[in-house]
Amino acid sequence: MPSINDSRCVLVTGATAGIGRALAYAISDLPSKPRVIAAGRRQDRLDELASKMDTIQIDFETDKETIKKFVDDTIAKYPDLDTLVLSAGVQYETWFQKPETIDLDKLLSELNVNYTSILTTITYFLPHLLKLAADGRPCFICPVTAGLGITPGAWVANYSASKAALHSLCYSLHAHLQGTNVHIMEIIPPLVESELHDAEDTTKMLTNKWMPLEEYIPVTMDGLTKGDFQISSGVSLAGLNRFETGKEEVVMKGLEVRKSW
Ligand SMILES: NC(=O)c1ccc[n+]([C@@H]2O[C@H](COP(=O)([O-])OP(=O)(O)OC[C@H]3O[C@@H](n4cnc5c(N)ncnc54)[C@H](OP(=O)(O)O)[C@@H]3O)[C@@H](O)[C@H]2O)c1
Repeated sequence: MPSINDSRCVLVTGATAGIGRALAYAISDLPSKPRVIAAGRRQDRLDELASKMDTIQIDFETDKETIKKFVDDTIAKYPDLDTLVLSAGVQYETWFQKPETIDLDKLLSELNVNYTSILTTITYFLPHLLKLAADGRPCFICPVTAGLGITPGAWVANYSASKAALHSLCYSLHAHLQGTNVHIMEIIPPLVESELHDAEDTTKMLTNKWMPLEEYIPVTMDGLTKGDFQISSGVSLAGLNRFETGKEEVVMKGLEVRKSW
């Protein structure tokens, strides 16, 4: 099975903190020693990573033209790039019983960073990846979704919806890319140690509930090195088993039926 062990050059977004940063280090430590390109906004964090990997500064809270330029520049500099780990994300609480507290601009930004910019990034990288794959190189797209994309957390309603959208997209991409040698490996974390919850000041409350990174990363790397379509653990795996058993086959079959119309 093709897997991250075959990757020669890996772009990791959201690599300045949490899951993305830990994955960037773990991938660069693989015996195959792929080149890793860490992307994020905070330059001081990128500078810390620079002794071990390449870095690119990018803010995904932007328009499609900026993302197109980022993709074109990245491919021009790294023509070997064969793997995307898309971990950049934000999370905000939403309380619909108090609609006057809802900041729609913040929610639209959350939707953009967590879904629209990722859809855009994947779409612009695909011609390059499909070409490499056609030349015999396995390529990988690894979006980071969330267990809350399977079972919404009502207190983070828009976040959950954005992750549900990305999770749904992963099924469709997986079906479309069958036979192309471009592989989807969706990373579906449960609650994991990170800086994600700093924005809502709930980090302290969660420290005794989350899975530590030192426990989470080996499980995720195991899935990436096996080439699994969905890589989940803890409550995310429980949600997947409870609500989505058999879904992959139904999506595949649906596309086949549509093609036969
Ligand atoms: N931790 C969890 O419990 C958990 C559970 C399920 C899913 N996830 C998902 O895992 C992924 C990683 O999150 P994390 O938990 O590791 O959180 P984190 O520690 O807060 O890391 C988030 C990363 O995203 C980057 N980022 C945020 N906004 C960005 C923007 N506009 N443009 C570019 N980069 C941006 C941040 O870097 P800069 O600030 O430097 O840009 C940072 O590197 C996210 O997609 C998250 O939804 C996390």
